[in-house]
Amino acid sequence: MHTVLITGAAKRIGEDLAHHFAQRGWEVIIHCNNSRGDADRLSTHLRNLFEDRQFPVIAADFSDPVSASDAIFSELRILNLCPEVLINSASVFNPGLLADTSYTHLRRQMAVNFEAPFMLMKAFRQYCKKGCIVNILDTRVTSNDSRHAAYTLSKKVLMHLTEMAGLEWAPEIRVNAVAPGAVLPPPGQDETYLKDVVAGTPLKQAVSPGDLADAVWFLVNNGTITGQIIYCDGGAHLGK
Ligand SMILES: NC(=O)c1ccc[n+]([C@@H]2O[C@H](COP(=O)([O-])OP(=O)(O)OC[C@H]3O[C@@H](n4cnc5c(N)ncnc54)[C@H](OP(=O)(O)O)[C@@H]3O)[C@@H](O)[C@H]2O)c1
Repeated sequence: MHTVLITGAAKRIGEDLAHHFAQRGWEVIIHCNNSRGDADRLSTHLRNLFEDRQFPVIAADFSDPVSASDAIFSELRILNLCPEVLINSASVFNPGLLADTSYTHLRRQMAVNFEAPFMLMKAFRQYCKKGCIVNILDTRVTSNDSRHAAYTLSKKVLMHLTEMAGLEWAPEIRVNAVAPGAVLPPPGQDETYLKDVVAGTPLKQAVSPGDLADAVWFLVNNGTITGQIIYCDGGAHLGK
């Protein structure tokens, strides 16, 4: 059975990705950190819909990327599961200009958004030997807008890692990314935030979680593509 490991899958975009793969016959390993209750509810919901699968939940805190990666892959060994796809979706998104970025803030953004995906990618390659990785970036990787400086830098480094690993790990492992524009409002913001962002994009069209999942699905299923970044952002990366 095809198996995917999705980080940050208890809620929001990660949860939508879990549904997308589950509906297409895949076993989904649901990673979470604090949202264990949501992850367990998602797992139960999917098990009720698709009784041939388990939808296991694995919790790990990415503030310690090495321990988190070790814990996830030890658990996979115990479960005797070897995913053929890894989707790095978990992230933290905190505001702050460069001038206001403390070392603690920088460390947190880098640990969760870059170092943990990197350690998981390495463990995936070592343990699973072949397959496909999709990193979820952000359309901000093309811009120097520094309102979320540490977050944007962490995603820029993850973009370069995507390309470097795509080259080094071919032909066994393909490594690609999807860079979304605004899909869901961040905590504390409402639909007005999304409307304003969408109005500033060339296509003036909202990106739904389903649009994003379609792009991920395409990368997973097209075996000729590696080191590629799909901007799923209404053209926002092109600038104004
Ligand atoms: N939302 C958007 O419109 C948008 C736009 C551009 C790019 N993106 C990218 O798309 C992806 C998904 O976006 P999203 O809005 O769904 O993300 P999100 O809600 O901000 O975060 C997804 C998950 O990341 C997990 N996470 C946070 N800190 C963690 C830690 N220390 N250890 C392990 N997991 C941790 C959380 O899991 P728990 O809840 O279990 O703690 C959370 O549910 C992200 O990579 C984001 O950068 C999103």
